[in-house]
Amino acid sequence: MPEFIKELKRTHSCGALTAKDVGAEVILFGWVANRRDHGGAVFIDLRDREGLTQVVFEADTDAAVQATAHELRLEYCVGVRGKVVSRGGNKNPKLATGEIEVHAIQLSIFNKSEPVPFPIEDKVDTAEEKRLNHRYLDLRRAPLQKSLMRRSKMNLITRETMGSMGFLELETPFLVKYTPGGARNFLVPSRLSPGKFYALAESPQLFKQLFMVAGFDRYFQIVKCFRDEDLRLDRQPEFTQIDIEMSFVTQDDIFAAVEKLIVKLWKEILGVDIPAPFPRMRFEDSMRDYGNDKPDLRFGMKHVELTGIVADHAGCGVPLWEPLLGEADASGKKKMKPGQIVKAIKVPASANFSRTETDKLEEFVKGMGSKGLARAKVDEAGNWTQSPLAKTITPDARAAINAACGAGAGDLLLFQFGKESQVHTVMANLRLHLGKKLGLIPEYGPRDPTDPNSWNFLWVVDPPLFEYDDEAHRWAAAHHAFTRPHDESVQFLETDPGKVLCHRYDCVLNGVEIGGGSIRLHDPVVQARVFAAMGIGAEEAEQKFGFLLQALRYGAPPHGGIALGMDRLAMLLTGAESLREVIPFPKTQKGTDLMTDAPNEVTEAQLMELFIKSTAKKAEPADAAAQPKA
Ligand code: AMO
Repeated sequence: MPEFIKELKRTHSCGALTAKDVGAEVILFGWVANRRDHGGAVFIDLRDREGLTQVVFEADTDAAVQATAHELRLEYCVGVRGKVVSRGGNKNPKLATGEIEVHAIQLSIFNKSEPVPFPIEDKVDTAEEKRLNHRYLDLRRAPLQKSLMRRSKMNLITRETMGSMGFLELETPFLVKYTPGGARNFLVPSRLSPGKFYALAESPQLFKQLFMVAGFDRYFQIVKCFRDEDLRLDRQPEFTQIDIEMSFVTQDDIFAAVEKLIVKLWKEILGVDIPAPFPRMRFEDSMRDYGNDKPDLRFGMKHVELTGIVADHAGCGVPLWEPLLGEADASGKKKMKPGQIVKAIKVPASANFSRTETDKLEEFVKGMGSKGLARAKVDEAGNWTQSPLAKTITPDARAAINAACGAGAGDLLLFQFGKESQVHTVMANLRLHLGKKLGLIPEYGPRDPTDPNSWNFLWVVDPPLFEYDDEAHRWAAAHHAFTRPHDESVQFLETDPGKVLCHRYDCVLNGVEIGGGSIRLHDPVVQARVFAAMGIGAEEAEQKFGFLLQALRYGAPPHGGIALGMDRLAMLLTGAESLREVIPFPKTQKGTDLMTDAPNEVTEAQLMELFIKSTAKKAEPADAAAQPKA
């Protein structure tokens, strides 16, 4: 008999055969996904990445083939030669190949499989930990195979689209010089330079700017980035960016290039026409209305900023709000203390939350460090009920707040007040929580991926260049020190750095930040003033960013760029719950790889070679207590 693989080459994938192929002789390779041994006939579903095909070993098949078929077990890897036969009245409409089956003529078991630790099925309730332990088996499951195939397609479309716009795909190093600012870096000790370290690149930022100085004009790269951050569902320590940099452009030119890529990805992957250009929102408006710079615009429930009303009404008679006020001015009017705000969200009467439900909301905000969730139910006359605030609030203030919130009979007002950053964070998360609870947005992914209205793209623009570092008592770059301030803002660099806005932008999709970038600062004079505003002198700047500063002095072109989070795009495009579903070999929340057991300990000798001594306490052997004393 001819031998599989050597002579018998695969003719079809397991997802390809239809009624048109009836009568053909075919060769399939794959894994046994299902098996029914009826004593006489043996049925298997053969699986590969493209799908499933039913293969039948009939009672009258060659005796040796029959015998081998009886040996088959789940996940055996096999080759089958056979004839395509119609299933007649027994079609399986759920299967792409459901019209046919293959009647086997020849079978080879390439490799047996031990019993698998969890079933290889689309939906499994096996704990993620166990699946990550055997990721290669988890990856055999159709949903993960589909996600990764989709990712592969995303890479191809990206390369094609960027290439068609004249972008060059150029590589940058991973082992780089540590530069301060940005995310925490992973450090790599250098054996050849004792006591010195590389940083793993958190992004190709500085190098892509150097490409512009070198004249490459339009660069992109699908590139791994490394950040030693606290991990979340949408954050991995190593992740992939579509990194882009362009010369001689404005912000609008960069947006147009990104929109072209995104429109293409959505069209080719989901068949959806995304309208472009994407809407834009100023950072300040986003913070005021949504409490963060990545608003999910699929639903309303905007925050209502009440700070002005509370100040105008001298605390509104609410004892909890009075401490937020500062000294009175000459006219006797009190202003809010700097950095203190009051915000509300209106929950419509239709929600009709029970007492238990509002108590649960309070627990939710307490989980984020809030002291509590002040609330008020509005009745028909505009009075507040079920509220500790109701006793003392002045009627004028209550009317003003009701009006600002647009609150009527049965509506529920939820309040947060105090430190601006805390109020924003709590209210932003509360809004999303309410949106999911009220069914305004799904828990994960889009409601209908094929509906363009399920996808709310947005550019958030014009944020402040600096943020105040409370611990260091100085201004720090909100993103990085090489972002170009607005020309109209430059005048505030020395007098009021908090007022300086810049050409930085984030691309947001359904409340997820999918990309961020900026127009870079290529003017050395303004650059020096930006450093000065952060308390960084010329010498320190030179020491920290010397090579970039130097390069910018050699005729650097005006330039700017952006990086899109490829994993986040893939997560959203596949409706996944976390990045772990779209990264082949992801890390856990603790940054570990359960399958390979990374990170792991290394020997003293290896450390010595790197001139390193670990101060970490060695874990006691688990059975130390049981060891006999010497
Ligand atoms: P930024 O830090 O905003 O910008 O990153 C760009 C995009 O990368 C994605 N991202 C991540 N995805 C998964 N896990 C992470 N830990 C993670 N961190 C970031 C996000 C984010 O929007 N050099 C600049 C870009 C520029 O200015 O051109 C940069 O890296 O989707």
